[in-house]
Amino acid sequence: MSDPGTNIELAAVRAEALYCQRCDLWQTRTQVVMGEGDPHAGILLMGEGPGENEDRMGRPFVGRAGQLLDRALEEAGLGRGDVYITNVVRCRPTAVQNGKITNRAPRAGEIAACEPWRWLEVNLVNPRVVVCVGGPAAKALIDKKFRLTEQRGQIFRREDGRSYIATLHPAYVLRLQSSDREAFFRARGQLVSDLQLAKDTAR
Ligand code: URA
Repeated sequence: MSDPGTNIELAAVRAEALYCQRCDLWQTRTQVVMGEGDPHAGILLMGEGPGENEDRMGRPFVGRAGQLLDRALEEAGLGRGDVYITNVVRCRPTAVQNGKITNRAPRAGEIAACEPWRWLEVNLVNPRVVVCVGGPAAKALIDKKFRLTEQRGQIFRREDGRSYIATLHPAYVLRLQSSDREAFFRARGQLVSDLQLAKDTAR
């Protein structure tokens, strides 16, 4: 039987984080989006930040990118319930373009401000493997000079005893679908194989 303590502690962190004003993103968010999944997962996925759908639903990776991630997890032999999924920032970063509100990548100061929540989630779940989904997560957790195209799919063992693997962001993979079919299938395959590597490493 799994220890219910972690669930209770994660719920306490969530309750506290819901009122967070550590950076300016609180002014434009609908709600704080905390991680979800198996609180004892061997694999933790660290994404970039909530987008429009996640901001509305209050759950990570529920939009189109999340659906692609779910399918890639399945192909790697993992269910969404087998992993814990969270983000480097817990509030949606937005920009205004041509009068429209759009998603944008989180800024370094926002990623730094969210660090205490990230630290609490990672340490409570205590995964053996952290998968950095996209460049911002890899730069925040592995190395600020991380180059995703060259270094994805490799295992980095850190001083916290965990293995870190970076993979392509599913939103990037999706963008290739309409521009370059060949690159899309290659990138999708890389996402699946990086998740398979995470699964094998977490055993
Ligand atoms: N992209 C992310 O990086 N995280 C989400 O939760 C959704 C989309």
